[in-house]
Amino acid sequence: MITQKSIQEVINIARVEEVVGDFVNLRRRGVNMIGNCPFHDEKTPSFTVSPSKNIYKCFGCGKGGDPVRFIMDHEKLSFPEAIKFLASKYRIEVEETEDTEAQKEQKLVTDSLYIVNEFARDYYVNNLFNRTEGKNIGLSYFKERGFREVTVRKFQLGYALEDRDDLTSSAISKKYNIEHLRTLGLTTRNDVDFFRSRVMFTIHNVSGKVVAFAGRTLSSDKKQPKYINSPESEIYNKRAVLYGMYFARDAVRKEDECILVEGYTDVISLHQGQIENVVASSGTSLTREQVNLIKRYTSNIKIIYDGDPAGIKAALRGLDIVLESGMNVKLVLLPDGHDPDSFLTEKGTDEFRNFLNTHVEDFVFFKTRVLMEEAGHDPIRKSVVIRDVVGSIAKIQDTFARTLYIRQCSVMLQIAEEILVSEVNKVIKAELRKKKEEQRSGEQVPEMSREEEWITPKPVLSQEPPEFVQNDAWQERSVCSVLINYGHKIMEGDENLSTAAYIIENVMEILQYFDSDLCRRILEAVGHELAAGHTPGHNWYLGHEDEEIRTFAVNALSTPYVYADWERKETFLQTQKMPDDNFVRDAENAIFRLQLRKSNRIISELQNWLRENMAADNTGEEYVVNLKVLQVLTERRNELASKLGTVTL
Ligand code: GTP
Ligand code: MN
Repeated sequence: MITQKSIQEVINIARVEEVVGDFVNLRRRGVNMIGNCPFHDEKTPSFTVSPSKNIYKCFGCGKGGDPVRFIMDHEKLSFPEAIKFLASKYRIEVEETEDTEAQKEQKLVTDSLYIVNEFARDYYVNNLFNRTEGKNIGLSYFKERGFREVTVRKFQLGYALEDRDDLTSSAISKKYNIEHLRTLGLTTRNDVDFFRSRVMFTIHNVSGKVVAFAGRTLSSDKKQPKYINSPESEIYNKRAVLYGMYFARDAVRKEDECILVEGYTDVISLHQGQIENVVASSGTSLTREQVNLIKRYTSNIKIIYDGDPAGIKAALRGLDIVLESGMNVKLVLLPDGHDPDSFLTEKGTDEFRNFLNTHVEDFVFFKTRVLMEEAGHDPIRKSVVIRDVVGSIAKIQDTFARTLYIRQCSVMLQIAEEILVSEVNKVIKAELRKKKEEQRSGEQVPEMSREEEWITPKPVLSQEPPEFVQNDAWQERSVCSVLINYGHKIMEGDENLSTAAYIIENVMEILQYFDSDLCRRILEAVGHELAAGHTPGHNWYLGHEDEEIRTFAVNALSTPYVYADWERKETFLQTQKMPDDNFVRDAENAIFRLQLRKSNRIISELQNWLRENMAADNTGEEYVVNLKVLQVLTERRNELASKLGTVTL
C-alpha cells in the first residue's frame, strides 16, 4: 500500500498542463490551454486544460478530472498505479507500507499462477507451429477457416495434443508446481491433461495477462462439448472477463463503440477483417461486471447476434443490464444461419460494415417490435409484453432519453403515452423503495445509484395524482460540491470561519436525515478533519482513500458550470456567471435549501405522528413534547423560507 503521505505529495506536485502535455499538444488560449481530445476523435479542439484549477475537461466527450484521473483514463491504470506513474515522472520516492505476510504470500501465489499459464500458452502455441500433430490438425484447421498466421500468432492460438499428459509431464520436468497446474485446471486430479485433442484459445485479461484457456474440439462427436474452459480461479473470474478486450480496447476507445459478439472465432475473424473494436461474452449471457468493463472505454455498445431464435433470445437477455448501466445499446441481427465470423468471411469487410450500418436497430425498439410481433392479437400476451417493455424502459437512466422512448414505444404498443408514463414511474418508484430497504437492511449497495430521476406524468389521463420522489440527494450533492470547491476559502466578513466549517456546523444536525450515503460520508470525513485542525483543500478530496469520494471530487471540480442543470432542477444557484466570486452565497443558499427540505420532511413526519396519536392520548408527555418541537421547527422553517425568499430571485 502506498502511504497517504506519498499520495498527497504526488497530487500536490503534479501539474495538469505538464501531465496532459506529455500526451496532448496544448496551445494557450487566455488563462486556459486547449488541444485535441485524446479520448475521442475530433477535428476542432474542445479539450480544455485549466492550469489554475489543475484540471482538464473535454467539452466534446465530457471527460474531465485532475492529473491523476488523466493518467488513469489515458493509460488505463488503477489509482495506485497512476500515483506511481506520476511519482516516477516527478522523481518522487513513493513510500509503501510493508505488505503483511499474508499479502506477500497471496501475491506470490497469483504471480506463479500467471507464470504457469504463460508456460501453458507457450506450450500450446509451440505445439501448433512446431509439432507434427499440431501442424497437421490444428494449424491446418485454422488455415482452413481462413485465419492468417499473423492472426493466429496475435491471438496466441494453440493446440493441445491427443497424448494423455504431455503438458503435465513437460511442466513437471521444468519444475513447475503441480498444485498450480491443478488450481488452473490444466491438470486433472488424476494427473492427466485437461485439454486434449483441441485447438486452444488463450483468454487474456485487459492488461494482456493469461487468465484462462478455451479448447475447441475438432471431432464431430456430439457427446463431446464443443468448447471446454479453464475453471475459475484466483486469476480468472469469468463474469468479469470479455474475450478480446485486451486487443480491442484501443479501438473501442477510438471508435467510441464496443461491438459485442458471441464467439471466440467471431472476435478473431472481425479483427482479421480490420474491425478491431470487438469482444465476446463467450457463451454466457452478459454480466454486470462485463458491462462495467466496457464502460471504462465507451458508453456505446453494438450487439451483433445470429438471426436465429436462440440469437434473438440471447440478445434480449443482455438488454436490461446494459440499459441499467446507462449505456446506449444498438443491435444488429444477422441473416438466419450466419454468425459474424461466417458472414464476414463470406461477404468481406466492406459489405459487412455496410450491413452493420444499414441494419442497426435501437435495442428497446427492437425488443418492443419482436415481442409485439410474437404476441399477435392476443390481448393477454400483449399485456405481458407491455409489462416487459415497461420494465426495460424503467431501467434507462437518462430522464430525457426515457421520455423519448416512452413516446415512441407508446405508438408501437398502441397505448396512450400517459398510461405508459405512469406505469414506468410505478416501476421506478418500486425499485427505489426496494433499494432503500436493501440499504437499510445492510445488504450490498447496488453500484449504480439512481437517487433522483423522475418523469412527471402528464396528469391528463392518469388515474393517480402526479407522484414525486421525496429525496434530497440533489440538494445534498450541491452542498458537497460547494464544500469541495470552496471549503478552504474564508467566508466573507469573518476572518476565521472557513466555508467548510460553516457548512459542517450547519449540516451536522440534519446529517442523519441524509438520503445520499456518499454525501454523508464526505461531510463526516470533513468534520473529522476540521476537528483535527485541518481544513481540506481540493487535493485532500482528490487523494482520498475512498474511491467514490475521489470520483465525486473530480466531477465537482471539473464541472463547475453545471449550474444550468441545477437550475432546471430548481435548486439553489442563481449566481451563474462568476461562481468563484459567489461561493459565499452559493454556500448559504445550498445550506438553506437543504435545511428547508429537511425541516419540511421532519415537520410532516411529526404532524403524521401527532395525527395518529391525537385520539389516543393528547395530554401525554411525549405528545406535548412533540407538539412543542413542531412549533419550534415550524418557526425555524418559516425563517428559512423567508431567508431564501430574499436570496433567491
Ligand atoms: P465455431 O463453431 O468454431 O465457429 O465457434 P463459435 O465461437 O462460432 O461457436 P458457437 O457459435 O457455437 O458458440 C458461441 C460461443 O459459445 C463460443 O465461442 C463459446 O464461447 C460458447 N460455447 C459454445 N459451445 C460451448 C460449449 O459446449 N461449452 C461451453 N462452455 N461454451 C460453449
Ligand atoms: Mn462460428
